[in-house]
Amino acid sequence: MKLLCVVVVGLVLPVIRAQVPHWGPCPDPAVQPAFSLKQFMGRWFEIAKLPAQFEKGRCIETNFTLATDRSVRVVSSEILKGELRKIEGTGVVEDMKNPAKLGISYSYVLPYSPYWILSTDYVNTALVYSCTDILRLFHVDFAWILARTRTLPDATLEKARQVFADNNIDVSRMIPSRQQGCDKTL
Ligand SMILES: *[C@@H]1O[C@H](CO)[C@@H](O)[C@H](O)[C@H]1NC(C)=O
Repeated sequence: MKLLCVVVVGLVLPVIRAQVPHWGPCPDPAVQPAFSLKQFMGRWFEIAKLPAQFEKGRCIETNFTLATDRSVRVVSSEILKGELRKIEGTGVVEDMKNPAKLGISYSYVLPYSPYWILSTDYVNTALVYSCTDILRLFHVDFAWILARTRTLPDATLEKARQVFADNNIDVSRMIPSRQQGCDKTL
């Protein structure tokens, strides 16, 4: 039991530090109906995100490639201190009846984190949400507004934030991601 506590605290604390936990269980937002994994593939730029922690890298983007009909290769990259950094992960549809609810893991030793596509038109924007219950007492969550282009019109951003809010997701601390000066060679 003691060991379990140490393990739980060790796993949970870094997550809590990154984000203020909310009391209660995760919300249960609606996700994209009839989600097509295939149409979602390709390059997505991060336009805004929760938590509003210290911003680290800039020019954050993710490239999804279909591996099987229910799994994908995920390559995320950012520019940090003038260097392009990449991490690779895998995503899976855990339940084919719920194709918009992916799990993504960036390491074999880490469990799959929820990666739910709340809404997407595949060609302009995608709204992604990830929430983890902790000891059933509270939850920590992450949210992203992704786009096929490095910028989005303000009206589109506002609409996106409203979708999160309508699903009881607090995005008041969402911050824009820096996507300036990304296309020049490093
Ligand atoms: C995305 O990944 C695919 C498959 O590895 C690759 O062919 C493509 O060039 C990548 N696109 C970008 C923008 O990195």
